[in-house]
This record gives sequence, C-alpha cells and structure tokens, in this order.
Amino acid sequence: MEEQKMNAPDALWRPMTQHKTLLTNRPKHIVRAEGCFMINEAGDRILDATAGLWCVNVGHGRKELAEVAKTQMEKLAYVIPVMTCDPAVELSAKMLEMIGMDKGHVYFTSSGSEANETAFKIVRQYHLQSGNPRKSKIISRHRAYHGNTLATMTATGQAERKIGYEPLAPGFLHVPPPYPYRRHEKLTVEEHGLECAKFFEDTIIHEGEETVAAFIMEPMISGGGILVPPDNYLPEIRKICDKYNVLLIMDEVVSGFGRTGKMFGHEHWGVKADIFTFAKGMASGYMPIAATVVKEKIFEAFYGEANELKHFRQVNTYGGHPVATSVSLKNIEIVERENLVANAAKMETYIKGRLNEFSDHPYVGEIRGKGLLLGIELVSDKEKKTPLEMAQANAILQNCLKQGVSLMRNGFTVPGLGNILIMAPPLILQESEADMIVDAIGNALKQALN
Ligand SMILES: Cc1ncc(COP(=O)(O)O)c(C=O)c1O
Repeated sequence: MEEQKMNAPDALWRPMTQHKTLLTNRPKHIVRAEGCFMINEAGDRILDATAGLWCVNVGHGRKELAEVAKTQMEKLAYVIPVMTCDPAVELSAKMLEMIGMDKGHVYFTSSGSEANETAFKIVRQYHLQSGNPRKSKIISRHRAYHGNTLATMTATGQAERKIGYEPLAPGFLHVPPPYPYRRHEKLTVEEHGLECAKFFEDTIIHEGEETVAAFIMEPMISGGGILVPPDNYLPEIRKICDKYNVLLIMDEVVSGFGRTGKMFGHEHWGVKADIFTFAKGMASGYMPIAATVVKEKIFEAFYGEANELKHFRQVNTYGGHPVATSVSLKNIEIVERENLVANAAKMETYIKGRLNEFSDHPYVGEIRGKGLLLGIELVSDKEKKTPLEMAQANAILQNCLKQGVSLMRNGFTVPGLGNILIMAPPLILQESEADMIVDAIGNALKQALN
C-alpha cells in the first residue's frame, strides 16, 4: 500500500499520538468507509478489523442511519434534557426491555466515560440517601479501562495512562482481574476465579464494608487484553456484592450490543448488575451517545421534595439528544433485524478455527475471546510465557496494515507491555473478510520470525 502524503490539518491534536514522529509515521487519512472497509485518499481499502474503536457494530456507510438523523434534525434537533422527546423516551424503554429489567431508569450522556462517571456519582449519592453516608469507595480492577475523566481514569487500572495527571480522584481501589492464561500453575481455572473473587472480598473487609460503595467491571476486560473470566467468577462477585451491600456496575461500553456474541456481555454468565453503562455499539459510532441504566431500587432513593436536594443534580447538555437517540433506535433495529449477534457468535467459531492454524507458532501464547472481541497473546517464550517485546508486536501490526488490515494491540495496560493483538471487526463480518484478517496475521507472524 502506498505511503500517503500528510494532509491532516496541522492544527489537529490527535489522541495517543507523539506528534514529533508524525513526519516519519504519517496518519492514515480516511475519506470514506463502507461495510467493513475504510478508504483512504489513494483509494486503498483498509479492512477495519477493530470497527473503529470497537464501536461501528453495524458497519460503515449505513444510509438508513443518515436518513433517520436527517429526518430527526429537521423535525427536532435539540431539546433541553429536563424536557423529553419521543426517541429518548422510546430508547429508554427499549433498553430496559433488552436488559430484561421490568422497571428501572436510563440516564443518557454522550460517551462511555461520562456514563461511568455518572454511575460513580449515582452510587455515592444513593448510599448517602439510603442511610450509608460512609459508603463512597469504588473498587475496580487492574488492566481495566473505564474512561478518560479524572474519576474514570482513576478507576482505570492502567498505570501509564495516569502519568502526569495526578493527583487523581480519591476513594478508588484496585483488585486483580482473573487472567486464566497467567494464573498460578497450581490452580485450576475455577480455583483462580475463586481466588480473584476472594481478593475482592478481602479488600472490602480490610477497607471496612461500611466504606465501600461499588465495584465496576467489564464482563470481560477488553482494552486491557481480552481477559475472559472463569465461569464461576461473575456469580461469585455478585454474591459478594450482595453480602456487603456493594453495588455492581457492569461496564458494557464495549461488550454491549452484540460484540461478544450475546446482546450483552454479562449474559454469558447470567449475572445481573445494579447499574449498567453503555456507549459505543449503542449507535455504532454514528452519533455520540451513552447511557447509565439503574435498577428501580436505586432510582427510588432519589425521590424527595423539591427543596431536599435528593434528586440527581447533574446535567449533560447533550443527554438524551433527539438525533443521537433516534439513530440509536434505528441502529438497534438493524442489529436485531440482521441477526448481527448470531453472526458475531458464528464468526467467532470461524475465526478461532482458522487462527488455530497458528497455535504452534512460537509467538502465539493464547488465542482467546468471545464473539467478535478476540485476542492473541504474543509471547517470545511459550514455556515461560514471556510477553513479546512491544516493538515486535508493533511490527506485526504494521505488517498487517501494509497488507490492508487495521488491527490493534492493548496499549498502556501494564507498564512496558503491549503484547496482545486485538480483533473487534464490525458484526456484519463475512467469512471472506475474516479470511483477510487471519491471512494478514498469518503472514505477519511468519515474517516476524525472519
Ligand atoms: C470498557 C470501556 N469503558 C469506558 C470507555 C470510555 O468510553 P469513551 O471513550 O466513549 O469515553 C471505554 C473506551 O474505550 C471502554 O473501553
């Protein structure tokens, strides 16, 4: 693929980018996208094997979504979030129905970070107004990413992302997540699940249960390296949360809306949370929209007289935005109509089957994941499970890109490490496109040994 000329505007400050190296490492400038492909100025088609930032679940270039947005903009482009509009009301009901909550309430924001930040504020205010004023600490897990605001970054368990931004928010603690591939060799996977749940319980006990407000977790850690928990882990976590009156916040920002081969990630383990947060796949990236969904029990603690200050005192200018909510509704209709969740599950089997062709490769430590949220852990020594150097993992990614396939790896998860290749293509993926991804990885792995 031809090297592109740099035509991104000089004034654009891109995230996660060292701009000094831009002269040698020029950005991809994308002009168009359709289905699973992005198209650059030179007309090269790049397979978007990460669905943008794992959000374009229904694929690129859906005219239906553009039409819904246009119609809604012409009719009602904006309304103050304390007022209501049809699509916001309809979407909130639809989401409750999809999660299987008879009753509950949905608070809309515009990004996953805001959805989690909102959840943190809700849990603290909830406990304060439920007779537990000291319950304010929030526990999360190492390796997990929960957002870019000061509080959600504090909850994030990835040290390098925090450098330069301290002091962070007080009142946050981290516990280790299950990581079956790197568990202690004397433990079975199930024992490892129990061990990790026990770390969580011990942390509550040591901190004092009367001080712990909530636990936030993704059903399976995504950006932190595709960590699928043992089957007993989520049920154990639920039990511990119930025992100590700790609210369970399930971050479904990545795993929601079909990504893992079920409509929602937590469905794999049949465990319900007290609060769910959603973003990305909610509108497949066509509009910025996110939601914090709470059980009715939580919402009820916010009832009171007008002068009591018991209501939720946060406003987001774009919360429940008419255009974003109408696009989200149509996006969900597409996911359901085209059975994209089933396709994600089917493609998981297909891709894993093909990736197994490389299981003997000296760099392939483990192939794992669910649905279209898949990872390959790269190691330089299979016996010792030594993580592959970041530069070598990068070279594999760059090689895939040269072959027209854009993949990711976990970044800034553990200082100095970034050895897990990540695939999260649009859920419309077909076998021929899956073959392109697998073939590119296969070639890159082969050449990495030369
Ligand atoms: C699990 C998880 N939670 C929250 C967020 C934050 O979402 P946003 O970037 O929309 O603020 C992300 C973003 O990647 C995420 O992966």
